[in-house]
Amino acid sequence: MLSDAAKAELDSILTHYPDKRSALLPALYIAQREYGYLSAEAMREVASSLELDPTEVYSVVRFYSLFYSEPVGKYVIHVCEDLPCALRGAEGLIRHLEERLGIRVGETTPDGLFTLQTAMCLAGCDKAPLMQVNLEYEESLTPGRIDEILQRLRNEGIEAKGDE
Ligand code: FES
Repeated sequence: MLSDAAKAELDSILTHYPDKRSALLPALYIAQREYGYLSAEAMREVASSLELDPTEVYSVVRFYSLFYSEPVGKYVIHVCEDLPCALRGAEGLIRHLEERLGIRVGETTPDGLFTLQTAMCLAGCDKAPLMQVNLEYEESLTPGRIDEILQRLRNEGIEAKGDE
């Protein structure tokens, strides 16, 4: 069940839309933030709140790469592998990330910090090659920049765990 705070946020969002169906994307973001990913139960809960069929909710979740129907790491890395990024070395950077993280594309590190995925064009071709970490873009990547980014994220992730 969504927390009272999340339910209140959803109720508030619903006042901005002419019908409940239109609030599906923000409702899914709230649920994903709350649960970490969108399980079948979470999707049913959203469907019930918006008076939708669960299969409609499921198809939207499957369509958008930023919705996760399986557990993911604290940091989800999407590396663009579309043509402009590929021409600037995306493939090598993906291999570099796999090596540094010790996982393959589609997997999550055992410590739960990182999930590695690939993506089609992220609309930043002029700064290729790039990747998206949660909602932030990291642009003009090199192996060295990737190492710096991973180190920073590891430090932040460890600090956050210490605060829990
Ligand atoms: S091809 Fe990578 S951002 Fe467009």
